[in-house]
Amino acid sequence: MTEWLIETSDLTKKFGSFLAVNHVNLRVPKGGIYGFLGPNGAGKSTTIRMLLGLVQPTKGDLKLFGQSIRTDRMEILRRVGSLVESPSYYGHLTAYENLEITRKILGVSKEEIDRVLEIVRLTAVKKKKVKQFSLGMKQRLGIAQALLGKPELLILDEPTNGLDPAGILEIRDLIISLPKKYGITVLISSHILSEIERVATHIGIINKGKLLFQGTLDELRSKQTAAVMVQAAPKQEALKLLKENKYSWTDKGEFIQMDGVVKPAEINRQLVSSGLDVNAIFMEKKSLERIFLEMTEEAVE
Ligand SMILES: Nc1ncnc2c1ncn2[C@@H]1O[C@H](COP(=O)(O)OP(=O)(O)OP(=O)(O)O)[C@@H](O)[C@H]1O
Ligand SMILES: [Mg+2]
Repeated sequence: MTEWLIETSDLTKKFGSFLAVNHVNLRVPKGGIYGFLGPNGAGKSTTIRMLLGLVQPTKGDLKLFGQSIRTDRMEILRRVGSLVESPSYYGHLTAYENLEITRKILGVSKEEIDRVLEIVRLTAVKKKKVKQFSLGMKQRLGIAQALLGKPELLILDEPTNGLDPAGILEIRDLIISLPKKYGITVLISSHILSEIERVATHIGIINKGKLLFQGTLDELRSKQTAAVMVQAAPKQEALKLLKENKYSWTDKGEFIQMDGVVKPAEINRQLVSSGLDVNAIFMEKKSLERIFLEMTEEAVE
């Protein structure tokens, strides 16, 4: 049986009459990387803030490690590391000194500093002042801070925001290493599917406060339906004929993409019998990006 490190039931947050998070049931399995995906304003940060006890839910309950945050808040939060905004640090202090401050607050052993520096690969620059760090290095320092005290669960809210491709790659490699090497479960939010797709084992898609999909990456991929693509000449005549025959399509330049489920053989027959040339007909799988966009667009009322 799967063990859920995070389990919410009808988690809801209203700001006034505005439903920022609407009856969300998150299921984050132990040992995985859960990609929490949604466009701007979807409700990701609000959900994460509720998980961390920073925002009080309007309704619903949430359990971390099987314990309710309402009754065991301190005990739970000791087992969680998080990075929810840009990391806070002192620019005039070194990476090591910054970690030393957090270490003292948490009351964990001094060896922890070298351990977390090693994990985020900042050991070589630990004596450098943080103001000289790149944004990617600062972000890794933030993750190092979150890893102090050996959390079992790491919650990262858009950790790659604003990073360049090299910085994104470093964070990605780091995140992928966490469950494998250290047994840490990760929840990471993002608004970019391609980023999540590369790291996550599980995905939750949220839009306008509602969880629209939750499952493994493979389950999401199984939603990839294929579209029939047609290359016919003259194209304008083909478009006109298909419209007359009650098909809807999207003009993709070289190709005509048929909307909905259609039979390629029928399309072919209709075009050919009207004297048009059919140069190609094939099925093209929708990209995951397309599925994500369609899911989040559909929900726009
Ligand atoms: N304290 C607040 N008071 C009123 N409305 C809020 C508050 N916090 C968030 N909201 C609103 O709730 C909605 C969800 O916000 P949230 O920050 O959770 O989204 P998000 O998915 O993290 O978006 P982003 O990708 O922009 O970070 C937004 O419409 C936001 O304006
Ligand atoms: Mg946010």
